[in-house]
Amino acid sequence: MLDNVRVAVMGLGRAGYRHAAHLAAGIPGAELAGVYDPNGALVEKAELEWGVRGSGRSAEDWLDDPAVHAVVIAAPTPLHGMLIKQAAARGKHVFVEKPLTSRLDEADEIIEAVERSSILCQVGFMRRFDPAYVEAKRRIAAGDIGKPIYFKAISRDPGSPPAEFIKHSGGIFLDMAIHEYDMARFLMDAEVSSVTAHGQVLVHEFMKPLGDIDQSLTYMTFDSGAAGDAEVGRNAFYGYDIRGEVIGTDGSITIGSLKHHDVHIHTRSGSFHDIVPSFPFRFQEAFREELVHFIACVRKGQPPSVTERDGKAALAIALAAQQSFDTGATVNIGHG
Ligand SMILES: NC(=O)c1ccc[n+]([C@@H]2O[C@H](COP(=O)([O-])OP(=O)(O)OC[C@H]3O[C@@H](n4cnc5c(N)ncnc54)[C@H](O)[C@@H]3O)[C@@H](O)[C@H]2O)c1
Repeated sequence: MLDNVRVAVMGLGRAGYRHAAHLAAGIPGAELAGVYDPNGALVEKAELEWGVRGSGRSAEDWLDDPAVHAVVIAAPTPLHGMLIKQAAARGKHVFVEKPLTSRLDEADEIIEAVERSSILCQVGFMRRFDPAYVEAKRRIAAGDIGKPIYFKAISRDPGSPPAEFIKHSGGIFLDMAIHEYDMARFLMDAEVSSVTAHGQVLVHEFMKPLGDIDQSLTYMTFDSGAAGDAEVGRNAFYGYDIRGEVIGTDGSITIGSLKHHDVHIHTRSGSFHDIVPSFPFRFQEAFREELVHFIACVRKGQPPSVTERDGKAALAIALAAQQSFDTGATVNIGHG
């Protein structure tokens, strides 16, 4: 068993900063060995904040460093595939942010590279480590609601990331709805066999020339005979609204609420509670737990519970949804 997994973090934006912060604060058996981001100001901030090394080192320097065992890849989505393949070629274990990549042919290349090099690869579907989703999964698997027949998801961001991010994000189905497609597979314990997707720009006009939309709906059918839908948008100006439901033959299970703190304020004008403001608050524990799991797997040499193959399966659903939106037709998904 490896005592101390030395990890380099690639990309220090919204997601990468969070992963580096968790590693710096302490993940059992792990050490933040270094950071890389082409934005030097972010590297300097990391150096000051965590006393970690970064300046003057490239991504390749970290990948070639024999003292580094694993990398966290949180660079923009179009770079994931290249970085994973480079890491695999050097025998470094990989934790990669979702989506695994934006192309199915590259997903196959990644699967092959991971298997050829015998590295471990975990994809950052952090909801699989969120206590509420974990408990829902346990209850469904225990048969508490009977046979799952309908999956429902609401995923509303309080606004849009900047145009610079949207440009490289791959669009709402790949960037955002992919969390719901992964939860659909996870909670229903079935594969999505067809999707019909709709959407439009309701608020963020700047997305039109970028070919993206801020509101979407995906209707899904499953190979188990179940069905479902995911409503995903970036227009919830009241807060970060993430909810899910699975309806079964004996009942239903709902996940998530808008409540941030478990505090209610009662006044003459009504009763109030505050609302979850953004994803780091809602999924703070999940972001840490997914790294705890990754490090434990690397130390023991065991495959993670969510791998590059799950990354490819969710990607296939997202690309099918994009195709359905583009063509107006229902798209079937093969499982070869
Ligand atoms: N799990 C989640 O809920 C979640 C949330 C946010 C983002 N993400 C994912 O994380 C990835 C990054 O998104 P973000 O929101 O942090 O974007 P971001 O734009 O905030 O940060 C990306 C960072 O990567 C850096 N970068 C650019 N080229 C690089 C390279 N070659 N090597 C290393 N770093 C490089 C940029 O300078 C920037 O600091 C995306 O794939 C996104 O889908 C996942």
